[in-house]
Amino acid sequence: MINMKIIVAADYDEMSGLAAQTVAQSIKANPSAVLGLPTGSTPLGMYRNLIKMHKEGSLSFKNVTTFNLDEYVGLQKTHVNSFRYFMYENFFNHIDIQEGNINIPDGNSKDPEKECIAYEAKITNAGGIDLMVLGLGNNGHIGFNEPAGHFPASTHVAELDESTVQANARFFESIDEVPRFSITMGIGSIMRCRRILLLAGGQVKAPAIRGALEGPVTPALPGSVLQFHPNVTVVLDTGAASLLTSA
Ligand code: F6R
Repeated sequence: MINMKIIVAADYDEMSGLAAQTVAQSIKANPSAVLGLPTGSTPLGMYRNLIKMHKEGSLSFKNVTTFNLDEYVGLQKTHVNSFRYFMYENFFNHIDIQEGNINIPDGNSKDPEKECIAYEAKITNAGGIDLMVLGLGNNGHIGFNEPAGHFPASTHVAELDESTVQANARFFESIDEVPRFSITMGIGSIMRCRRILLLAGGQVKAPAIRGALEGPVTPALPGSVLQFHPNVTVVLDTGAASLLTSA
């Protein structure tokens, strides 16, 4: 667990408050910060806290640039389960970020491979990502980098693991509607970010957190690669931290 700073919050609300403070500090240190952002249930409280800070006048996103981690392939941009829809609904519509500074992979691109190359180039052209916020899948995935035999180097088209399809089915009317493919930053894209904030809440995440933070580094549990990153902060609640031996 070299280099990782692990904070165990009492509950989801405290975890979300600490996560929002970490993001806000980055923006205050550098108002033109480049952020990497996830969707999912985990960061919702963080987004709510950041919106509150903005509405109270203590935080502006005017010069901030964002890159979302991933997007489903094949959902219309306006689909309620597209990650684009999620981000506008839960965050971007409520802050002063400039539309042109928002980047989300285009899951409807006619040429997804080309879209991946262009997305990676956009990140590079923006100067790289200062702070990447990550959630962790129950199976240890980060972004849609699923358990595999290798660590994907850059943004790519990825097939969702069956367990991820099942986990994400809660947002769809039926499991058959869950897209099977996504465009996701690769493990290399994530490792090139200057700082990483990993969030996980709930007992259901405890095995993946234990594997990621205390197990061997292996593409079979993609989050474990973060042990090799020089600047990772992990914010957990007590449930997610419950199987750690050293936190
Ligand atoms: C979301 C993403 C995923 C989620 C992970 C955890 O953009 O890339 O890796 O972070 O599946 O999801 P939740 O937070 O819903 O438990």
